Amino acid sequence: MSARKILVTGGSGFIGSALVRRLVRDGHQVRVLDDNSRGRPRRLDGIENDIEFVGGDIRNFETVVAAARGMDEVHHLAFVNGTEFFYSQPELVLDVGVKGMVHVIDACRRHGIGTLILASSSEVYQTPPHIPTAEDAPLVVPDPMNPRYSYGGGKIISELMAINFGRKYFERVLIFRPHNVYGPDMGFEHVVPQFALRFRKAAAGSPTGPVPFTIQGSGLETRSFCFIDDLVEGVMTMRARGEHLNIYHVGTTEEISIADVARLIARHAGRPLDLLTSPRLEGSTGRRCPDISKLAALGYKPRVLLAQGLPRTVDWYWEHDHFAPKS
Ligand SMILES: NC(=O)c1ccc[n+]([C@@H]2O[C@H](COP(=O)([O-])OP(=O)(O)OC[C@H]3O[C@@H](n4cnc5c(N)ncnc54)[C@H](O)[C@@H]3O)[C@@H](O)[C@H]2O)c1
Repeated sequence: MSARKILVTGGSGFIGSALVRRLVRDGHQVRVLDDNSRGRPRRLDGIENDIEFVGGDIRNFETVVAAARGMDEVHHLAFVNGTEFFYSQPELVLDVGVKGMVHVIDACRRHGIGTLILASSSEVYQTPPHIPTAEDAPLVVPDPMNPRYSYGGGKIISELMAINFGRKYFERVLIFRPHNVYGPDMGFEHVVPQFALRFRKAAAGSPTGPVPFTIQGSGLETRSFCFIDDLVEGVMTMRARGEHLNIYHVGTTEEISIADVARLIARHAGRPLDLLTSPRLEGSTGRRCPDISKLAALGYKPRVLLAQGLPRTVDWYWEHDHFAPKS
């Protein structure tokens, strides 16, 4: 594919910045729109002179129109991510999610931009009916009263808009649903960084013998953790060979229990673990593992096992705990 001008919203975020790096490496001209509410300029270190950074809020239409001017395609990733925000700021999650999507579509239409890539989420299924879950599983908001579903609901609205406007006004709309992406500098509001830092604190508090470590739920809940490099590879595969108005899972089929995540971290720390369980958060899901055969048919193959990616991620958090938000 020839060099293109690409706007990445949320481009200083965890996934956005990795995508931006790859697009720059592939010779594209990249503009980033991010308000840095959760984006971190350090994630773009080394390529800051190769990109154009526009600081601004996706909820401001004029900002989005200006950022989209002159672009060939838009990759829309700006969203309020992080489970704790779904519970504490559900109205913000929806405000950014819905207005952001409306503004991106309208800005593309204003400038005649024909290609839109949208980041959705595995949370559109809530409790998936089948494991592994294929892209055609029903999208569900089980209870509008539960603030957690602000996120999944916002993603469902975004997908519906991208597809229905895409049919009429775009040449190419591709949607990816990432499944539990992890890696260094992924933010602090996720299970892997929280486990890494909590485990280290617990280990310091119990310098000898097994380290007491409490997790939410029974520990038997599962997730399929996809290393950031594999995610980027998946999105690039979709961008190169995906079909207009199609949705693709990007993730891995390596399903692992939350208890085993804690065990891997303990093993990496060289300490025995005393795992303690507690009730699961209302609205959180028992199992998650994507069927990735649709993207695999286009050539996608995840390469990094959790046992390889987790130590690198945990080390980053142990070395950069000073970046953690002060509570
Ligand atoms: N990380 C995952 O495992 C995962 C899983 C499923 C879906 N996703 C989706 O992928 C995308 C990227 O996720 P991420 O993990 O990089 O999250 P992230 O929070 O690191 O990135 C989101 C970016 O959006 C920006 N943003 C938030 N509100 C904004 C606003 N009002 N205006 C402009 N920018 C704003 C943030 O500053 C941040 O840089 C998101 O759409 C997310 O919902 C991520």
